[in-house]
Amino acid sequence: MTVCEYRAGLEGVPATQSSISFVDGQKGILEYRGIPIQELAEKSTFLETAYLLIWNELPNAEDLGTFETEIRYHRRLKYRIRDMMKCFPESGHPMDALQACAAALGLFYSRRALDDPAYIRAAVVRLLAKVPTMVAAFQLMRKGNDPVQPRDDLGYAANFLYMLNEQEPDPLAAHIFDVCLTLHAEHTINASTFSAMVTASTLTDPYAVIASAVGTLAGPLHGGAAEEVILMLEEIGSVENVRPYLEHCMEHKTKIMGFGHRVYKVKDPRAIILQQLAEQLFDKFGQDKYYDIAVEMEHVVAEKLGHRGIYPNVDFYSGLVYRKLGIPTDLFTPVFAISRTAGWLAHWKEQLAENRIFRPTQIYTGLHSAPYVPIEQR
Ligand code: SDX
Repeated sequence: MTVCEYRAGLEGVPATQSSISFVDGQKGILEYRGIPIQELAEKSTFLETAYLLIWNELPNAEDLGTFETEIRYHRRLKYRIRDMMKCFPESGHPMDALQACAAALGLFYSRRALDDPAYIRAAVVRLLAKVPTMVAAFQLMRKGNDPVQPRDDLGYAANFLYMLNEQEPDPLAAHIFDVCLTLHAEHTINASTFSAMVTASTLTDPYAVIASAVGTLAGPLHGGAAEEVILMLEEIGSVENVRPYLEHCMEHKTKIMGFGHRVYKVKDPRAIILQQLAEQLFDKFGQDKYYDIAVEMEHVVAEKLGHRGIYPNVDFYSGLVYRKLGIPTDLFTPVFAISRTAGWLAHWKEQLAENRIFRPTQIYTGLHSAPYVPIEQR
């Protein structure tokens, strides 16, 4: 066996083989199952894209219709899950609530039959259907309200915005949100997907797989960055303040949220589309003063750090879009999770098809044969 050198963060180390998505970080290319992200953003829907990712083909009209119907049917939550959520502290982060709810599904659907395609399909449908309902329900419950039941006459994106805001969304808003879900659905072996794959490789249940991925996505270096971006834009407060703020960050080596990526050394192709979506929303529903601050930030960061390949990533413009859609700041990462559930499930299924438990090695840096010092002598 070849012994590889240690690389912090496994940078550049292949940990799997996958045909789900492809990234070229120098050219700014992202493809799902070979189809460029721009094509999917323009022509597909989130559920069609999820089907493509999970079953490796674009569904025909009948298969897509069946899939959408199954998802509508499974959107509701068991009342015991709602009761469990009522006990969650209102001040808790919605990502923690989502992680707990995703894990709790394993209690209610405890049969495990990983070699049964019907079981796999049921788990896929259940998770894609229920994760949005859980996110919206926690949002209403923490305000002291009853959760809103899903509406079967609304599509996936529109129904989520309806459950969240308690009113039917404008069709443009629903369409733009659906595109956001498509853009966030999958991104090769990122931290949360790797986490999902490691968990999947133990042959545990799919709810544990998704719960572990949700916990990993929550961190500010990963999906949590979108929330941090808005907090940062609010702290900067004005276009004039952008340059001094960034100079201060660079002087103190503080990470600028929403910028930089392990793979992309150019502007993330998803950020390009999200910026266009933000502009469409502002044209119809009014401007957001933080957008000008964001554009100035992109300009100054490119000037100062562009030569090191630091450009906006997916999390930079998504928060501005979500704000305009009425999504509270601390729901940005749960919304990312709704979408990324599709990618996690695709990797779960791929992992099961050729499974070997993840069990890497380490370079030990500790002592050997160390003496045990009795407690009274320490
Ligand atoms: C996502 O991987 C994926 O696919 C993830 C994702 C997905 O779809 O799943 O794309 C989603 O997680 C987007 C990333 C969101 N995170 C942030 O926006 C947080 C800010 N960005 C960074 O912390 C950072 O760029 C990471 C975490 C995204 C990448 O980390 P790496 O690859 O480990 O890079 P690094 O931190 O080692 O940085 C390399 C150099 C450093 O300088 P030196 O020490 O070599 O001098 O680049 C600098 C860093 O200081 N750098 C930054 C920076 N990002 C990198 N400097 C200032 N601000 C930044 N944002």
